[in-house]
Amino acid sequence: MKMTKFADIKGFVFDLDGVITDTAQFHTKAWSKLADQLGVQWSTELQNGLKGLSRMDSLELILKTGNKENDYSQAEKEKLATQKNNLYLQFVQTITPADIFPGIKEFLDELNQHGYLMSIASASKNAPTVLDKLELTDYFEHVVDPKTLKRGKPDPEIFIKAAEIIGLKPEQCIGLEDATAGIAGINAANEVSLGVGSPDVLTEADMVFEDTNKITLANIEANMNK
Ligand code: G6P
Ligand code: MG
Repeated sequence: MKMTKFADIKGFVFDLDGVITDTAQFHTKAWSKLADQLGVQWSTELQNGLKGLSRMDSLELILKTGNKENDYSQAEKEKLATQKNNLYLQFVQTITPADIFPGIKEFLDELNQHGYLMSIASASKNAPTVLDKLELTDYFEHVVDPKTLKRGKPDPEIFIKAAEIIGLKPEQCIGLEDATAGIAGINAANEVSLGVGSPDVLTEADMVFEDTNKITLANIEANMNK
C-alpha cells in the first residue's frame, strides 16, 4: 500500500471499458472473432492480457500468441484492426444509459457533490462515442486523447496525463481499472489503484471491488485506512 492518505485525494482517474460499462465484453467478442479468423487459439489468459491495450498492441499480442507476428504487412495489420473496430462499433451502437454498471452513476454524483475532480484515462479512441451513448459526456469534461500518447498501458503515461489535465499530481489521484495492464500503469504513476473485477486477477491493486455498487467514498476511505 502506498503512503497516500484519503484526505490527500483530490481526483479520480477512470478507465472506461470494463469500469464504467461492460464494453470490455464487446472488445472481447470482436477480438475473439478476429483471432478465430486468423487461426489463433483464444484463451482466458489472452482475453485478460488484451484488456487495456491499444488497438494495435492488441492485434500484435494476438498475432504473437499464434506465432504469426511476422505473417502480415503493416497495411494488412491496419486492415485487420479496422475490421475489428467496425464490428466493435456495431456493438457500441446498442449501448444505452441503462448499461452503466450498477452504482457508478451514483458514485460520479457523489464525487461531484464532494468537489472531486475526474478524468478519463482510456486507451480507446472510441471513448467519446461510448460516453455519449451512456449520456455521461457532461461528467467528463477531461478525457486524455490516446492519440497524444507515446506509450500505451502498462506505461504510466496515460494516468500521469489524466491527473495533469485536472491540475493534480498523481499522488492526489485514485485510478480505477479493470485491466492488469492498467493497474500496473496506475501503480507506476504513483496513484492509488482501485481494481474493478476479480481480486484473483487484479492482484497488484491497492484495493479491489468485485461489485461496482460497493464503490463509494466511504468504502474507499475504509480500504485506505486498513
Ligand atoms: C481500451 C480497452 C481495450 C481496447 C483499447 C483500444 O483500453 O480496454 O480492450 O483495445 O481501449 O480501444 P479502441 O476503441 O481505440 O480500439
Ligand atoms: Mg478497461
